[in-house]
Amino acid sequence: MDVYETATIKLDVREFASRKVPADIKSKILEAARLCQSGNNSQHWRFILVQDPGNLKTLANDSAWGKWVEKANFAIIVLTDPKLGYHMIDAGRVVQTMEIVAWGFGVASCVFTGVDRETFFDDFGVPANLDPTIVVGFGYPVRKLLGKKSRKPLSELVFLERYGKKFDPSALT
Ligand SMILES: Cc1cc2nc3c(=O)[nH]c(=O)nc-3n(C[C@H](O)[C@H](O)[C@H](O)COP(=O)(O)O)c2cc1C
Repeated sequence: MDVYETATIKLDVREFASRKVPADIKSKILEAARLCQSGNNSQHWRFILVQDPGNLKTLANDSAWGKWVEKANFAIIVLTDPKLGYHMIDAGRVVQTMEIVAWGFGVASCVFTGVDRETFFDDFGVPANLDPTIVVGFGYPVRKLLGKKSRKPLSELVFLERYGKKFDPSALT
């Protein structure tokens, strides 16, 4: 798969097969996160790798809309520094980087954001100065993916030069 195909056919997957993701692929996903860009190159993020089934269950229990993570092969909790105005942008970039790299190896993923802070910080030993901004669950998809996406057309999303000015692909220079 080339980069364009990897990025455009990726779907979010919440049902995972029991087959384990090999350690070298996990390692490459983490390395891609490490090498990702961040605001000011501050690298304020910290990652918690969760691969123990009991801890995945705890993570699922702590989540608001991520109960599916219990059946993931592993998860990565992305912690960022909320004092930095761009911390959520950094979280989004690093998560997408990890997901695309994983997808290139046939490993599917999905993310969730809401956690019960009362239990989460204690369960995962997270310091109070970091935010659990986003969590990614990874694993091999349980079934063959059909690649069907529900997305708005470019004509609704893109303007030419100025907000409101219709974009027509024939205007591309
Ligand atoms: C910022 C963000 C937060 C999300 N939060 C959740 C979530 O809490 N739980 C969940 O199951 N999916 C979550 N998702 C997944 C979206 O619902 C998903 O990307 C969207 O449905 C498109 O999926 P598709 O690529 O399979 O079409 C989130 C996605 C993003 C980008």
